[in-house]
Amino acid sequence: MNISLRIQTLIKHAKTRDSTTYWDLCCDQAHIAESLATELTNKQVIAVDVIEDIIEKAKNRLVQKYSYIPNENSFLIYSTKCKVLLKNAKNINPNSGDTLILAGIGGILCAEILQSLKKDLLSKNLFFIFCVPQQKQQLRKFLIENHFELEAEELVTENDQFHEIMSGCFTNEIPKNPVTFFGKFWKNLPEHHHYYEKLYNHYSKNKSDKYNHELKLLKDIKFLD
Ligand SMILES: C[S@@+](CC[C@H](N)C(=O)[O-])C[C@H]1O[C@@H](n2cnc3c(N)ncnc32)[C@H](O)[C@@H]1O
Repeated sequence: MNISLRIQTLIKHAKTRDSTTYWDLCCDQAHIAESLATELTNKQVIAVDVIEDIIEKAKNRLVQKYSYIPNENSFLIYSTKCKVLLKNAKNINPNSGDTLILAGIGGILCAEILQSLKKDLLSKNLFFIFCVPQQKQQLRKFLIENHFELEAEELVTENDQFHEIMSGCFTNEIPKNPVTFFGKFWKNLPEHHHYYEKLYNHYSKNKSDKYNHELKLLKDIKFLD
């Protein structure tokens, strides 16, 4: 199975946890769930999408490759003894200690989904992995305001796309390693400088003073060797 660098990195972050259940939220064709289930051992992976047809399509795709357990609406991946359960739902009810991946959706939707899980964020010790392609600062703002304790973050470059990947959990204390507005992943590498320029150009194209604060934050970024 050919796994993209983005998904490989999501899995690497997932492997830092020993959860019983891993969620691929907003799963579309469940590629993240499938990759997780081929890489982890003896785990349950739940792939959820809000659109019923999408779940049907994912099911038709997986049924060609893995054994389907009809009464559970799930697939068994023999090599790793992982089960993949497909769900058509908007609201979910994770258990304590679960790991949740939110990738490929905008930062605003991601923050809305987190808001809908608010009562569980602290009480269930959930671990989150994020990779949003747009509205990244809106997600970061939500994470800053809600005391997200950052475990790790990194920038992944693939096919001219820049993926910011973050993992960690919510805390009711002041986080020891808080999220920042533009991240702390910056390295002295050509692709990091290229991404920085993209961000800087985006915030400086508006000639009013609207983004002065963001531009100041960007100017303060240090590239580590
Ligand atoms: C671009 S796909 C992301 C696929 C995958 N997560 C990835 O990163 O490769 C976005 C998916 O989010 C689903 N979606 C949108 N809002 C949702 C919600 N509130 N709950 C669950 N799924 C949602 C859409 O139906 C769509 O299939």
